[in-house]
Amino acid sequence: MPLLHDRYPELRDTLPHLSLGAAPTPLRRLPAFPGAETEIWIKDEGVFGDGGWGGNKVRKLEWLLPDVVRRGRRTILTVGGLGTNWGLAAALYAGEHGLATVLALVDQPVDEHVRAQLDRLRNSGATVYFTHTVARTALSVPGLLVRHRTGWTPPYLLPAGGSSPVGVLGYVEVGLELAAQVEAGIMPEPTHIVTAVGSGGTAAGLALGLALAGLRTCVVGVVVNDKLRLDQRGLLRAARRAEGLLRARGARLPDPVLSADRLLLVRDQLGPGYGHSTESGRAARTLALEYADLELEPVYTAKAMAAVLDLDRRRVFGGGPIVYLHTDGPR
Ligand SMILES: Cc1ncc(COP(=O)(O)O)c(C=O)c1O
Repeated sequence: MPLLHDRYPELRDTLPHLSLGAAPTPLRRLPAFPGAETEIWIKDEGVFGDGGWGGNKVRKLEWLLPDVVRRGRRTILTVGGLGTNWGLAAALYAGEHGLATVLALVDQPVDEHVRAQLDRLRNSGATVYFTHTVARTALSVPGLLVRHRTGWTPPYLLPAGGSSPVGVLGYVEVGLELAAQVEAGIMPEPTHIVTAVGSGGTAAGLALGLALAGLRTCVVGVVVNDKLRLDQRGLLRAARRAEGLLRARGARLPDPVLSADRLLLVRDQLGPGYGHSTESGRAARTLALEYADLELEPVYTAKAMAAVLDLDRRRVFGGGPIVYLHTDGPR
């Protein structure tokens, strides 16, 4: 049973959940990196997901897919970059549950990683449109909603990264899960948890979940996407919309839940833009592989780890311990 249902039994009938992976995901201490002062732990979301692709998107789909079915939709329409992990996970898991996926994709730099993703996308069963720019993608959506109707029923439209209020619940759940692991004595309460921010749902959900569980841990979101407007206000709004959804479905939550100082964003790892690798990201990849046998990809996780190392150097963590959230999960 998800912790959200365990903690708020009033949600069991109003907020359906579909289990797509084994929880809790592992939480373990990383070997010390040379020169790093803070104790760094990893919560490995990369291993979450039963169906051919893992990572943070699967957590969102656990709440999104039942909502699609509840609303009587047969098709998901969503958007992303050419190398979209979100679009791939949506296509694979929706397909397994008899739902179709339509993707409109924005350009990003094409490297080996993106080419491999495009191959996976081609084999995923999704219908793919290459809409190139954010503006053209937005313009194409009304037409795609009509073209991909099932009878008179339109597709279920989802924003980039699946970060709708329902999708955000996936990381509210992970916030509660981390708090339960802390309570079980696996690690002391972390001062910070660091995660990449592509659409913001992961960071927003985590902040809400940790606050609901009564932890003081601060979420540090590492912005890696300049195609969307991602700022602290917007992410707090996303968290509060998820909180509003929980209340609307009957959850009796404390008031107020989330304070603004629990969610910080850093923007200095973005480099030239979304999908571009950076020098500090490459250095973080090398270090993670050499000292922790941990593989990072250039778009999200390398930049998140680069931020961990930079914030450690600048003593922002104040002693830690901290958690690095590993969000990537190729199979
Ligand atoms: C591997 C990976 N990490 C992190 C993220 C960021 O998550 P979010 O879109 O919820 O900000 C994404 C997707 O955007 C991703 O694919």
